[in-house]
Amino acid sequence: SNSRTPLMVGNWKLNLDHHQAIQLVQKLAWTLGDAKHDYDAVEVVVSPSFTSLRSVQTLVDGDKLGLRYAAQDISAQEKGAYTGEVSAAQLSALGVSYAIIGHSERRQYHAESDALVNAKILAALGADITPIVCVGEALEVRQASEHVAFTLAQVDGALAGLSAEQVAALVIAYEPVWAIGTGEVATPEDAQEIAEAIRARVGELVGADVAAGLRILYGGSVKGDNVAQIMAKPDVDGTLVGGASLVLEQFAAIAGFD
Ligand code: G3P
Repeated sequence: SNSRTPLMVGNWKLNLDHHQAIQLVQKLAWTLGDAKHDYDAVEVVVSPSFTSLRSVQTLVDGDKLGLRYAAQDISAQEKGAYTGEVSAAQLSALGVSYAIIGHSERRQYHAESDALVNAKILAALGADITPIVCVGEALEVRQASEHVAFTLAQVDGALAGLSAEQVAALVIAYEPVWAIGTGEVATPEDAQEIAEAIRARVGELVGADVAAGLRILYGGSVKGDNVAQIMAKPDVDGTLVGGASLVLEQFAAIAGFD
């Protein structure tokens, strides 16, 4: 009923070495191939560690696999004396299509601010990498019923100064921190409430057309058996999956969303 192609992203976080990564990509591609998965109808993305990207690229290119891959982070810097950073250009040279930016784990453990998230978005866009911009509130914020305002403030900060064209080239993922890795999944109504609010805010910022085309993902304890009800919500266009993306049968079910 809309033109937004569903997007299923597996965030592998700090798991799997490059041998394990290529094994999982291969098995996933076989499983989806057996299920005659239409990658144009439901986009499937995996996000391994930086150390696995080259191996994944070789496999995806060599076997002409339909799935795409994402980086879990990206540097805001272009090049130079920034020890440990990985640039957008370096990722682009590895065939990376997406970059997860501002995940709550990076905001929490690496003190990433909205301003840094904004700079990383610009770096990614500059290299034709699609940012998957993560927003979402912690438990105390939800308990204080400030989740909508909090999340929209993160959206404002992340998108500050971006043109309509730039916003049209990104994806937003709503991940309530209290639902990440806890088994505590937000209700489909919770996901819809925020997704709808994000779409409305983006409409105010850059116009209704861009808002209507924007893909908004939900993340937080998504599994094979709850994905369908989340995807049934009108403003939820996909999922960002942690734990279940490491389990072949789970992520294959999520990609087929049943
Ligand atoms: O980025 C995905 C994530 O943070 C959700 O993790 O394990 O709750 O699916 P999980």
